[in-house]
Amino acid sequence: MNGPAPESAAERDREGILFTPGEPSTSGQAPQRDREGILFTPGEPSTSGQAPQRDREGIPFTPGEPSTSEQAPQRDHAGAPLVPEKPSASGRLAGRVALISGGASGMGAAHARAFVAEGARVVLGDIAAEAGAKLAAELGEHAAYVHLDVTKAADWAAAVTRTVDLFGKLDVLVNNAGVLDGGELGTYTEEQWQRVLSINLTGPFLGLTAARDALVAARPAAVINISSAAGLQGVAGMHAYTASKFGLRGLTKSAALELAPHGVRVNSVHPGGILTPMIGAPVGATADRDANTLTRLGVAEEVSGMVVFLASAESSYCTGSEFVVDGGMTAG
Ligand SMILES: NC(=O)c1ccc[n+]([C@@H]2O[C@H](COP(=O)([O-])OP(=O)(O)OC[C@H]3O[C@@H](n4cnc5c(N)ncnc54)[C@H](O)[C@@H]3O)[C@@H](O)[C@H]2O)c1
Repeated sequence: MNGPAPESAAERDREGILFTPGEPSTSGQAPQRDREGILFTPGEPSTSGQAPQRDREGIPFTPGEPSTSEQAPQRDHAGAPLVPEKPSASGRLAGRVALISGGASGMGAAHARAFVAEGARVVLGDIAAEAGAKLAAELGEHAAYVHLDVTKAADWAAAVTRTVDLFGKLDVLVNNAGVLDGGELGTYTEEQWQRVLSINLTGPFLGLTAARDALVAARPAAVINISSAAGLQGVAGMHAYTASKFGLRGLTKSAALELAPHGVRVNSVHPGGILTPMIGAPVGATADRDANTLTRLGVAEEVSGMVVFLASAESSYCTGSEFVVDGGMTAG
């Protein structure tokens, strides 16, 4: 989504006034509002006039259309490549081995790049084979792609085994895979509900279950569950998504209490609206980081910093907690 409101902003307009999302989307995705307060369908451009957005190369793009430079190397705010030619041996995650679900796209891909840049080795678990394999190739010998449908316990078991076989251990699990849809009560089906819950909540439960012994064996270890601002505040018309993200916040706490004696920390991250394919943003979408955080969307790399922190020893006294990266959206 470019300009359009983030998932959680779907509950408030620019003046902070609550509203109810309008008609259910025919695409099965949640109706949302853009910066002008106009309803739009994620993945489709807003109809209101917005400031032109630019991709990583500074090239303007139209929301919903791929950036013309999406093949360009990913760069940070200062223009430095996000993935150095050789992972850092002295980085903040040097020696760490991570499994990132949903690592082929959006925030998961950004976290994978950041992890490798900080010296970790990373396994990308996803159902998007082409994108996952492409990113793994970009990241080189310190990354691999595995097929992982997070709703399948057998896939999780295989992904954990593959991670340990490849890199010798597993000490960071990022439960990042997720889907977004919505619809008003009376139109939103049980099938839709079950699908979202199975990916967004059962998926992380199965991941924790499969990875538990490997994480304990590799202690100190860390689990980062990617919840949402929608795990802190309700969002009208997004019942399963909100429930799944509140549920993941709860699972984080029960797992953190259980695993603390075993040297495994478990925390949840709560992003606000982030420019990823989930909300219709093209690959490589950028934001003016000097702009008002309350009125702009975030970029994936702004969440990766928090995920790196939680995966690293810097957060050694943090567990069972919620870490909000939402530009202030839930502040009041
Ligand atoms: N983008 C936002 O505004 C936003 C805000 C808050 C939280 N989140 C959460 O962040 C996480 C990442 O979202 P994103 O915005 O990067 O979305 P995205 O759509 O870019 O990436 C999601 C990834 O999950 C994968 N996936 C979907 N179903 C899967 C399954 N069954 N098994 C394995 N992988 C599967 C997809 O293939 C994709 O690679 C999600 O949990 C999402 O709910 C997103």
